[in-house]
Amino acid sequence: MASQAPSGSKQLPDMMTSIRITAQGDVEIVDQLLLPHTVKWDKVSTPEEAFDAIKSMKIRGAPAIASLAALSIRSHLSSANAPTFASPAEVAAHVSPILDYLQSSRPTAVNLSEAMNRIRAVLKKEGGAGDAAAATDLVETLKAMCFAVHEEDMERNRTMGRLGAEWLWKQRGGKDGKKALKVITVCNTGSLATSGYGTAIGVITALFEADQLDTAYYAQTTPYHQGSRLTSLELTTLRIPACMICDTMLGSLMQHNDIDGVIVGADRIVKNGDTANKIGTYQAAVLAQRHGVPFIVAAPVTTVDLSLETGAEIHIEQRPPVEATLVRGRNVETGGMSVVRISPEGVGAGPEPWNQVYNPSFDVTPAELISAVVTEKGVAVRAEGAKSIDVASVC
Ligand code: MRU
Repeated sequence: MASQAPSGSKQLPDMMTSIRITAQGDVEIVDQLLLPHTVKWDKVSTPEEAFDAIKSMKIRGAPAIASLAALSIRSHLSSANAPTFASPAEVAAHVSPILDYLQSSRPTAVNLSEAMNRIRAVLKKEGGAGDAAAATDLVETLKAMCFAVHEEDMERNRTMGRLGAEWLWKQRGGKDGKKALKVITVCNTGSLATSGYGTAIGVITALFEADQLDTAYYAQTTPYHQGSRLTSLELTTLRIPACMICDTMLGSLMQHNDIDGVIVGADRIVKNGDTANKIGTYQAAVLAQRHGVPFIVAAPVTTVDLSLETGAEIHIEQRPPVEATLVRGRNVETGGMSVVRISPEGVGAGPEPWNQVYNPSFDVTPAELISAVVTEKGVAVRAEGAKSIDVASVC
């Protein structure tokens, strides 16, 4: 019989977030390419700097990139060099191309387009006729909207975490006397990928806070190592019992351990429940089904894209091939950061048939492999034998 639902009773240590706003109002991001070995905060003042930081993956994670893009527009409109506008229409003409530009930095995570669309909606509504005073009002409204995109993320993650943990505990908690759950996650979905607490890591944290977590296994997530570099940093900081596995070990782990759930985040969930997430998620879902393990997607409503019917329509970002031939880390001899090439020269660089590298950043998990989608609004469960999930019911 299932016992108590997560209560959130533990005091968690503070975890670094990817974005901070200084007392002077500057937006800074921690360079995630250098984590966990070096903590370097970089000021991001302009949309161009935000674009570069997102594109180069100094900041990554669907909610975090949406936050930074929005905050960069706010900084741009607040700076000492900010343009002055004679009418709301001028504001719209100035800001619209910036929205398009920022949106093009990474195509798969829908949170970024959703944030840009919210700002577009303000421009559409208020960016018409009027004088300079109306333009000033519009700029203030835009700045408030940009800040809200960033601010609202934290609280919804806590709700999502609680809902996901309660649902999984109901499925597996207390079963055969089980007092704590073993779960698996992929990629990085905690404070570094969001404004705080996290999505899939939020569910895991809520289980931990309720003393219902045995172990969180996390996949290294090559080629960017979001698992071995970032999830490891989050889980060790939070002192959550955790065990890193290589991406190739998911099957073995499920074969030899009584795993209770695979919990992942998402970059885009479409109408039928098909979900794009970090490369490697699909294989985890196939294995979960084979082993009868619940597979949960946890993501805010801003990750849901009801305009697409199925996952086949999701644009999957291809990263430069060469990225998969490199490893970045701390040189154990010099102590400095190094980028090391692990493949022969030419692999991933040339047009020759023997030098090809396949490097999609995301894959799509069909809804028929997903047990439940959790948002801050609730849990949408796939009915037994169904091939889709009613995601709209939790939006
Ligand atoms: O390429 P990344 O590192 O931005 O990919 C991130 C992921 O796929 C995460 O799992 C996803 O954004 C959910 S984050 C809360």
